[in-house]
Amino acid sequence: MKSLAEPEQIHPVQIRQMTAADLAQVMAIAASLPEAPHWPESAYHTALNPVATPRRIALVAIGPQKQDVQGFLVARLLLPQAELESIAVSAGSQRRGLGRLLFDALVNEVLDSDGLNSGILEIVLELRASNRTALAFYHSAGFAQNGIRRAYYADPVEDAVLMRFSVRPHRP
Ligand SMILES: CC(C)(COP(=O)(O)OP(=O)(O)OC[C@H]1O[C@@H](n2cnc3c(N)ncnc32)[C@H](O)[C@@H]1OP(=O)(O)O)[C@@H](O)C(=O)NCCC(=O)NCCS
Repeated sequence: MKSLAEPEQIHPVQIRQMTAADLAQVMAIAASLPEAPHWPESAYHTALNPVATPRRIALVAIGPQKQDVQGFLVARLLLPQAELESIAVSAGSQRRGLGRLLFDALVNEVLDSDGLNSGILEIVLELRASNRTALAFYHSAGFAQNGIRRAYYADPVEDAVLMRFSVRPHRP
């Protein structure tokens, strides 16, 4: 008799803190995406160290099917700003809302439990001017362009676009 395969379980996407156990998957995602920053493992360990300064927020997106890491972000806190240093979603999971979920979770992290701002007034970032996908993503998330750094990047030489996002408390 033919045996039926177990139906694949579908879980909601979960956003949680990154741990050292996630790093192999995080680094594999970054390595597979030419536009993502390619950090050495030591940089991630620094990001995960709760007593390192500046403090960083590192989050991963899990699931929904295989319960593995499908995206991540890292931001450093330089009050009154947070700098979004890296955000990436694996190629097969892009355009399904994971990037936005990660970013929304970052905004929630920089607000305290009462929904009031805990000292971070804006989230800033810089990216290559040719990264049209990320530009569209950041604009859709509410970022506005606030400057250009000419020839900021090397290999290939390229301008950096500077962007900022105002962190608004949930309650006035
Ligand atoms: C940028 C990135 C993280 C976006 O992640 P994502 O999970 O695909 O984004 P989302 O599905 O949450 O998209 C949210 C919105 O952003 C915009 N957007 C995202 N990808 C887009 C694309 N390829 N073209 C146009 N708009 C896009 C859309 O408005 C989208 O909403 P919609 O799907 O309802 O139209 C992802 O494309 C990525 O990992 N890119 C490579 C790494 C990188 O460039 N990182 C940024 C520099 S560090």
